[in-house]
Amino acid sequence: MERSSGVSRRQLLRLGLAAAGMPFAPRFALGGEALRLTARAGSARISGATGPATAVWGYDGMVPGPVLRYRQGERLLVEFRNELPEPTSVHWHGLRLPNAMDGVPLLTQPPVDPGAGFRYEFALQDAGSFWYHPHSRSAEQVDRGLAGALIVEEREPLQVDRELLWVLDDWRLDSDGGIIEDFDNATDRAEAGRLGNRITVNGGPPPVLEARAGERIRLRLCNVANARIFGLVFEGHRPIVIALDGQPAIPHEPDGGRILLAPAQRTDLILDMAGRPGERFAVRDEYYAEKTYELTQIAYADTAPLRSSPLDAPVALPANPISEPDLSQAKLLPLLFDEERDKAEWRVNGVPGFDHLGAPLFSLKRGETCRLHLHNDSDFEHPIHLHGYAFRVLKRGGRPLDRPEWRDTVLIGRREAVEVAFVADNPGAWMLHCHILEHQAAGMMGHFEVG
Ligand code: C2O
Ligand code: CU
Repeated sequence: MERSSGVSRRQLLRLGLAAAGMPFAPRFALGGEALRLTARAGSARISGATGPATAVWGYDGMVPGPVLRYRQGERLLVEFRNELPEPTSVHWHGLRLPNAMDGVPLLTQPPVDPGAGFRYEFALQDAGSFWYHPHSRSAEQVDRGLAGALIVEEREPLQVDRELLWVLDDWRLDSDGGIIEDFDNATDRAEAGRLGNRITVNGGPPPVLEARAGERIRLRLCNVANARIFGLVFEGHRPIVIALDGQPAIPHEPDGGRILLAPAQRTDLILDMAGRPGERFAVRDEYYAEKTYELTQIAYADTAPLRSSPLDAPVALPANPISEPDLSQAKLLPLLFDEERDKAEWRVNGVPGFDHLGAPLFSLKRGETCRLHLHNDSDFEHPIHLHGYAFRVLKRGGRPLDRPEWRDTVLIGRREAVEVAFVADNPGAWMLHCHILEHQAAGMMGHFEVG
């Protein structure tokens, strides 16, 4: 392993040894041992083993950061250190945690200055696929590589033959492999965000999915790109969605066979490898109609099938302990997202938010149920994220969803409205923002309070 500098063997085991394209090493119970995690400069093989190295910022200098792996009910205990040249923090995206651990500088904690540290400690209530990233100048810090997956295993593991993780990212590189440092440029802010020119899976060129006929794979997809939306199609296969943003979903085939992943979203899939020995299939990204491309391939080994018909085991995940919103009692709050074109500013209810301060967008009483009517009055799409909560997505364009799903980030189409609901049972000041990080930087951000 080239990535082991500075960490003990026990920590490495906890970190899951998730090198690019490599399946996880088994998890080891470490009885609450603190894990050290350091944000620092590093060098990454984004362009592959033979391409030029890329200077990045990463957790432990790695891109993506180490996979943190726990079991539901365990405590996360991270001794974070900042060795970057500027302040930062760690936000645990999608986790329902105490507000003081949410990692939002000025709102929930002081910024972590260069050379300083912060101790994050909280119980992991929900099983699922989550991730972590900074909440300081995110458009640049996340883009430079500060992002990692956090996996919380179910108490009873799902029966699969293998588990894989794809952390999807998008980079804007020059011909020498360096990151083009026009972070937050005016066009990206005003339009669709920073779309890059190189897609990576686990920090490198997407690895071929080497499969054995008949096996069942659980594939965790996590989009850590600043702005790129993915629409993945697994040709010749019928993936089943079992979780969205870490939260269990009623197992289903995605609409049109396409797995949609907006920035910050995660999807867990069951892939029954139904091809025959020696066959190959494409995995395509068909989100942007004029710019579809082959992400990677599925390559079947010549080995005889592992089994002749798909594994006969349940794929539904047990629910996480989230309160169900009671809509008859709900408080309805409209949020309007729009753009002030002249200033290239984004606003929530008419107000741009550039830092984590300012007045709250709304306040809720603890335990109250809230229905948010999220209206995108613009010509761009926005993945809207709430901290501290998972919410039920109820309606899209006024129509109730067939499968109201739990999410922490919901993609809202152009001129579209989406309605979500949640029980405000987690007190504190929580961010609400677009996860296209250039939009966030340009004002599409605010917070709400739960008393
Ligand atoms: Cu991924 Cu404010 O969060
Ligand atoms: Cu946006």
